[in-house]
Amino acid sequence: FTVSSRRTSRPAAAENMPRLPIYQQKERLVEAVRCNAFLVVTGETGSGKTTQLPQYLFQAGFWKGGKIGVTQPRRVAAITVAQRVSHEMGFTLGREVGYQVRFDDCTSKDTVIKYMTDGCMLREILADPGLTQYGVVILDEAHERSLNTDVLLGLMKKNHCRGGSHSRSSSLKVIVMSATLETEKLSAFFGRCPVFTIPGRTFPVSEQFCNLIGPKDIDGSGYVKEVVNMVLDVHTSETAGDILVFLTGQSEIERACDMLFKKAEAIDYRYDVRDRTVDGLLILPLYGSMPTDQQRQIFQPPPAGVRKCVVATNIAATSLTISGIRYVVDSGFVKQLAHNSRVGMDVLEIVPISKSEAEQRAGRAGRTSEGKCFRIYGREFWEKYMPDYMVPEIQRTSLTSVILTLKCLGVHDVIRLHHAHLLLPPCFRRGHVTELGRQMVQFPLPLGLTRVLLRAAALGCEELMLPIAAMLSVENVFIRPGNQKQKEAETKHREIASDAGKNNDFTMMLSVFEKCKSSESPSSWCRENWIHWRAVKSAFSVESQLSEILLRIKQQRDFSTEEFEGSQSELFRQCLCSGYFTNVARRSIGKSFCTMDGHGSTVHIHPSSALFGEESQLDWIIFHDVLVTSRMYVRTVCPIRYEWVKDLLPKLHEVDAYELSNVAREEVTEEEVAKWESKEAFKRQMGDQCDSSI
Ligand code: CDP
Ligand code: MG
Repeated sequence: FTVSSRRTSRPAAAENMPRLPIYQQKERLVEAVRCNAFLVVTGETGSGKTTQLPQYLFQAGFWKGGKIGVTQPRRVAAITVAQRVSHEMGFTLGREVGYQVRFDDCTSKDTVIKYMTDGCMLREILADPGLTQYGVVILDEAHERSLNTDVLLGLMKKNHCRGGSHSRSSSLKVIVMSATLETEKLSAFFGRCPVFTIPGRTFPVSEQFCNLIGPKDIDGSGYVKEVVNMVLDVHTSETAGDILVFLTGQSEIERACDMLFKKAEAIDYRYDVRDRTVDGLLILPLYGSMPTDQQRQIFQPPPAGVRKCVVATNIAATSLTISGIRYVVDSGFVKQLAHNSRVGMDVLEIVPISKSEAEQRAGRAGRTSEGKCFRIYGREFWEKYMPDYMVPEIQRTSLTSVILTLKCLGVHDVIRLHHAHLLLPPCFRRGHVTELGRQMVQFPLPLGLTRVLLRAAALGCEELMLPIAAMLSVENVFIRPGNQKQKEAETKHREIASDAGKNNDFTMMLSVFEKCKSSESPSSWCRENWIHWRAVKSAFSVESQLSEILLRIKQQRDFSTEEFEGSQSELFRQCLCSGYFTNVARRSIGKSFCTMDGHGSTVHIHPSSALFGEESQLDWIIFHDVLVTSRMYVRTVCPIRYEWVKDLLPKLHEVDAYELSNVAREEVTEEEVAKWESKEAFKRQMGDQCDSSI
């Protein structure tokens, strides 16, 4: 490694850094890293762990032993933190300090501090199990308990215990960072390694339960309106200081920002506002798939007299710290992927947050001075619907993809990988990874979609599926303005759908991709057709990346091809069936469908689908994902024929002892059932996907 001293500017925010709590601990911290192979570092959010520790290690020369890698569960965090750190150190982003997230690699051969998502790190381990390029690996945000970070914890421990098998693993330093919480468990997991605590200071935050929503709001998003009203209330009646609002996802946040914007325009600052120094409101959304240039704005102080209001997902709870926040407005909800036993698969659900998460959110108001947190829910909601702690991802989502990765790494005994403390030991059948499995694990995509892609490649029609896989990997491309323009947008979208020939959401995406690509000015085409240009632009880049991976695989020795007889539309839809056979439903009563995975849940087609309103014409369908609000909705839908899936379906009905379990339910505690269900779900996934189809 060489580190040039070519700095873009004087190290920037340097004057600010000594104020962070971590600064006092600099020497002790570096010493602790020097003396230990494993170290747990904990401290309040905002104390400087993520941005400062890698710099300290850099200054102390740790980069001479290899890169300093820092993992983050969220891509936005990886990107913005890398930006911040390169700026603080006066380097150009992507050189000495860089980041890598799925489909976006901003590093170079000079990179010594590398921020990345935990998923990317897992991929790097696949290619290089000894992590020979690294001197230090920092697993950040361990308290979030993301699936990939949990698995990384296990792998790091295993690598180390194995000692000699990977030549230099013993000299690799592993640091686990966590906001608070369970540091003892983490230390025990790594053979009682030391825990370094950064003493923090925070200011008191007064917490108010505003009781604007009740139990009925659990199903639905009526709370968005209440949140908007609350924000306006705070803006007009509280003294200067920025506001941080917690909502659940992109479309909700965009809707809230629109509403806020309109209402804020009507404020007369001569009469309506209590604090006369406040004369404007700057509304900024913050969610995972946002473009990076917009993210940067979030951290900048607003112009004088203007109050900043950041409307964010849970990402602002721990991974990002925005300075200047004095007021928090908490919706009480979060969107998360969870295994839903009613449908028997992973679905996106909007659920109440846990009490500990609510405390964490409130704490964001007290970083620099006293603050206030306004909770739109009431005490009753808190007591009845908010659990004490959140369930870690590893216990609530399907593990198929991770298990396949582990198996490719030669970790067959997944149960032993983890200490019971960290991971609920799943039962599983043994199975070998086939050639197909090895091909699949190379794609940074959900397994079903990867299967579709490989099938399409075998049949010689990958040019149809690559754009679709890309479009499904970026943020939503369809703009739904939700106001008087909604009709116009819908008409445009419908035009694209009908041009696409067949009414289905997958060809619709393909059509958007192709039309945009071949148009003279892609950005104006998007504007005219109510399509997010930014999203399609990323899809273009994702498509070429996927196509490179596919090309590599096709060049390998035993890539077999097949002939297909039938129409293009059949070819297309049969390819989809090869990966989505777990997501099959058949029409039942009225507009509803019944899933065919052995659970027989009732689902409806989401209003955003091109097939919405056409239900009566349909019989069998496959779908990309499920969203649960007041109803269970399937999104991105395609009609299929029973013959195409019938040979795949019986495997889905082999539902072990699951059925039997229903009998015994009353006698066991809910917690046991939940554990048991995730175990069973896991077994099914393993049995069906790893054993039979991969
Ligand atoms: O990791 P931890 O929560 O301990 O703190 P951090 O993320 O390192 O943040 C330390 C400080 O840097 C906070 O005061 C943030 O407000 C600031 N920061 C920033 O201004 N801009 C960023 N993009 C990231 C952090
Ligand atoms: Mg952090």
